[in-house]
Amino acid sequence: MADMNLSGRVAIVTGASMGIGEVLALDLAAHGADVVLAARSASKLEAVATQVRALGRRALAIPTDVTVASQVKRLAEEATREFGRIDILINNAGGSYGATFKRSPLLKASEADFDNAYLLNVKSAWLCGQAVAPGMLARGSGVIINLGSVAARQEHGTRGGFGIYSITKVAVQNLTYVMAAEWGPTIRVNCVAPGVIDIPRTAANRSGAATAERLKVIARGRLGTPQDVANAVTFLCSDQADYINGVVLEVNGGIKSSQPPIEGGT
Ligand SMILES: NC(=O)c1ccc[n+]([C@@H]2O[C@H](COP(=O)([O-])OP(=O)(O)OC[C@H]3O[C@@H](n4cnc5c(N)ncnc54)[C@H](OP(=O)(O)O)[C@@H]3O)[C@@H](O)[C@H]2O)c1
Repeated sequence: MADMNLSGRVAIVTGASMGIGEVLALDLAAHGADVVLAARSASKLEAVATQVRALGRRALAIPTDVTVASQVKRLAEEATREFGRIDILINNAGGSYGATFKRSPLLKASEADFDNAYLLNVKSAWLCGQAVAPGMLARGSGVIINLGSVAARQEHGTRGGFGIYSITKVAVQNLTYVMAAEWGPTIRVNCVAPGVIDIPRTAANRSGAATAERLKVIARGRLGTPQDVANAVTFLCSDQADYINGVVLEVNGGIKSSQPPIEGGT
């Protein structure tokens, strides 16, 4: 009977230096996978690699900017050289604002805001998929998970300056469908779309009125945790999810769609 044991599998997790990605990497390792950790911060990646090794799994930290094709190519090459194969790719790196783009309404957004959000949330996932898929196709199996967001829903994306982020996360959903169609039957590709996840980087914002408002429309009555997301991702990576392909799984505690908590973590 299939189970969630990932022993013998090798997983790349992008954006693994903190937040949801760090917990995804640790959960995959806890289920037996060896893990390749990719993000820009070498020191943070090494700290996560140390935690993975403490779980008895192998870890390789590869500082990578996933928006740069040459760095993504090197990531796949180094991972394959070290482990001989890549079984799982988690396209987790992403966000709704950052050093290179702001969260802005369409009229106020700059061209760089749009381009950089698209680069980080969409193009990076395509680049990483394109880098690992040939090996998976040649070996005859593989799993890819793309991190979407409830912001892809119309009622969330149209509020609070989330517009461009929302557009990119809709694209992530469609990227998932296209990858699944083009790379099936060999590679399973799914999208996990978190709701409001309580990550360390935004913890300071969680105690105020905005959180109280969000909780009113989350049926589960609490914010999500990175572990909630990891539980879904690890399941979808496992053989238990063998017939789940090309779907978007929201992990949102039951957000009532008529009201707007919008995703608030990133
Ligand atoms: N938190 C939420 O509530 C929430 C809700 C819905 C969806 N999501 C999605 O979940 C994913 C993870 O979000 P998070 O909240 O955990 O974000 P986070 O805490 O800001 O972490 C983002 C990760 O991405 C990495 N990263 C950023 N730019 C990168 C680049 N150019 N190249 C490589 N790595 C890069 C960061 O590391 P470096 O800075 O070291 O590169 C970090 O490891 C994202 O796709 C996000 O859109 C989050």
